[in-house]
Amino acid sequence: MKMVISIREHCIDMNPRQLPAGEMAINEAVSTLHAGGVVAFPTETVYGLGADTLNDEALEKIYQLKGRPSNNPLIAHVCDIDGARKITTGWDDRCSLLAEAWWPGPLTLVLGRDPSVPDRASGGRPTLAVRSPEHPVARSLLTEFGGPISAPSANRSGGVSPTRSQHVMDDFQNQPEAHDLLVIDGGPCRVGIESTVLDMTVDPPRILRPGVLTAEILMPLIGQVELAAMQTVSASPGTMERHYAPQTPCLLVDEFQLTGHLQSHEQRCVVITSRDRAVDPPHVLISMPTDPSGYAVELYDALRRADMERADVLLIESTGEEDPNWIAIQDRLMRAAADRNS
Ligand code: TXA
Ligand code: MG
Repeated sequence: MKMVISIREHCIDMNPRQLPAGEMAINEAVSTLHAGGVVAFPTETVYGLGADTLNDEALEKIYQLKGRPSNNPLIAHVCDIDGARKITTGWDDRCSLLAEAWWPGPLTLVLGRDPSVPDRASGGRPTLAVRSPEHPVARSLLTEFGGPISAPSANRSGGVSPTRSQHVMDDFQNQPEAHDLLVIDGGPCRVGIESTVLDMTVDPPRILRPGVLTAEILMPLIGQVELAAMQTVSASPGTMERHYAPQTPCLLVDEFQLTGHLQSHEQRCVVITSRDRAVDPPHVLISMPTDPSGYAVELYDALRRADMERADVLLIESTGEEDPNWIAIQDRLMRAAADRNS
């Protein structure tokens, strides 16, 4: 009996540590990275779980913490073009045009992996994804650390990405390996969904994961850009279909289906919609902005809040059908609902 109690008490301390962004947090994070540890930090897209790109054992810790399959490659974060060129091969004029226009920012380029970078940094692939984040905390971390930082989104594998430090705290609470994880709080993320991943090793370049930087935005700079089809995204392993998924069974619905579900009274529903609607108790409504940028900023927080309602079903009203600016959001919504809509 005594032993059970002491294990319980121990578990209470098993939470990550949150520090406000500032010199103290950056100094501690830099020491942790140099010592081969992992830190959670804000970027403008989502929070990342970072480790030294050139330290194989440190990279392994990221996979363990996330429960991420070892063949799912990581993005290496760099300060600038020079930093990217040191760890990749095949950087060309198109890469320079893209980086000059959009770095720092939510654009990831897939290039060849330089032999100095461990296999594990890209899940064993010969390629490496690189991006220069814009968030000031991510930038000072990179500058003070002085080298590339590999970082996936700081959620448990397959779950919803974190856009606030509290989301990271929630995901890693009571996880023994995360008991000393440092989480730097830099406020809510400005973009809210992950970067656009653009494969520069193929011609024409191909978008493996849509983001706020759409093909329409990138094409005037470098010519034709292809969009990998939703169903054939295996070129980017982390984009397996069910992803960004809340715990609550989730359905993407049109107006007609939504009304049907709400009227059936068989299930308690949480509704996520950007339309002007009201729902009667016991159903719950989460209202979203009507523009794609605003919707993106709030999406992951809304999915996480929806889960907290412990409803029977989460109904997400489909949105913005033909507009390219909604593609990245539709991609995330389809994945949140994948294998339940099919
Ligand atoms: O906005 C973002 O990109 C965030 C922040 C933290 O920077 N990071 C992020 O990382 O979303 P992660 O690991 O959750 O997603 C990385 C995506 C995955 O879909 C992965 O398959 C793809 O990028 N990726 C990474 N390296 C790749 C490579 N060498 N070839 C193809 N796809 C790659
Ligand atoms: Mg992720």
